[in-house]
Amino acid sequence: MKEKSKRNKTLFITGELVSVYSKKCLPAGKKCPPLDELVNKTVIGDSFALLKTFPSASVDLVVTDPPYNIEKKFNQKSFKKMDDADYCAWLESWICELKRILKANGSLYVCCDWSSSPLVYFVLKKYFVVRNRITWKREKGRACRRNWKNNLEDVYFATVSDDYTFNLDRVMVKKSVLAPYKDERGQAKDWFCENGKKYRLTAPSNVWTDITVPYWSMPENTEHPTQKPEKLIAKLILASSNEGDIVFDPFLGSGTTSVVARKLNRRYIGIEADKGYAAIAEKRLETAAEISSIQGYDGSCFSDRDDG
Ligand SMILES: C[S@@+](CC[C@H](N)C(=O)[O-])C[C@H]1O[C@@H](n2cnc3c(N)ncnc32)[C@H](O)[C@@H]1O
Repeated sequence: MKEKSKRNKTLFITGELVSVYSKKCLPAGKKCPPLDELVNKTVIGDSFALLKTFPSASVDLVVTDPPYNIEKKFNQKSFKKMDDADYCAWLESWICELKRILKANGSLYVCCDWSSSPLVYFVLKKYFVVRNRITWKREKGRACRRNWKNNLEDVYFATVSDDYTFNLDRVMVKKSVLAPYKDERGQAKDWFCENGKKYRLTAPSNVWTDITVPYWSMPENTEHPTQKPEKLIAKLILASSNEGDIVFDPFLGSGTTSVVARKLNRRYIGIEADKGYAAIAEKRLETAAEISSIQGYDGSCFSDRDDG
């Protein structure tokens, strides 16, 4: 492990530990292993090769965060920006396989930024019923001299068919009540008291402003350059899967999808090309077996901000 200050909770894995934790992963052969060997595993390998032979109709939910169409270094490998047509072809090469891999009542979430968002939508609607686009606000964005700072990201929600899971009751939002109405008998109308404060539960919208991108003092933070917040992924998994379901991420990175699935008692499968990131995912999964808390989620409700 690298030297770091006591308050810095970032997970770094180097040298010996990479080999210890990557040995817990499944090495990819030419063909994808059968489903029972894949379940609750991190596979080190190339998704494009593995998806072709991945078991059909086997997965309940896909949550994935592919490389966006920008220059980005993922350890040894760099993702190069493509023109729109090439990026669409790249997206289609794996999105079409997900249609086969998902069950008939399965759902899919795909993360993207503003510039890849229209391309993701264009490709998704060829194969899936696109139901929504969630936009979430990042607190941090890179300052620009000649442009607006980008502080938003999108997540598309799509399903295989009209038969799909949506657990609204698991993702209701708790809001402070400013005008607490009472009915004619003087009873609270659609609100309740908690610790002296008045709240009501309301259905979540597709604009999320309560998400914090992991940073150095958060225990979930790792050295991965584009790690997604556990709270963001928790909302998707709670809404669109049930306990015991299989949640799959073909671009696993530091393991967020699998870690959150595990914490929420789902089964998981993740594929990651980079051995170092796969090792981080395994280390996080080991910790998740003991500590199942998700920052910003108390097991029934999501808090407004998760900086506590
Ligand atoms: C945007 S990151 C995902 C980050 C992840 N959501 C997290 O929270 O850590 C995309 C990941 O896909 C991986 N990747 C890129 N091409 C891949 C491929 N062909 N097969 C498997 N993984 C790949 C990269 O190494 C990178 O870690």
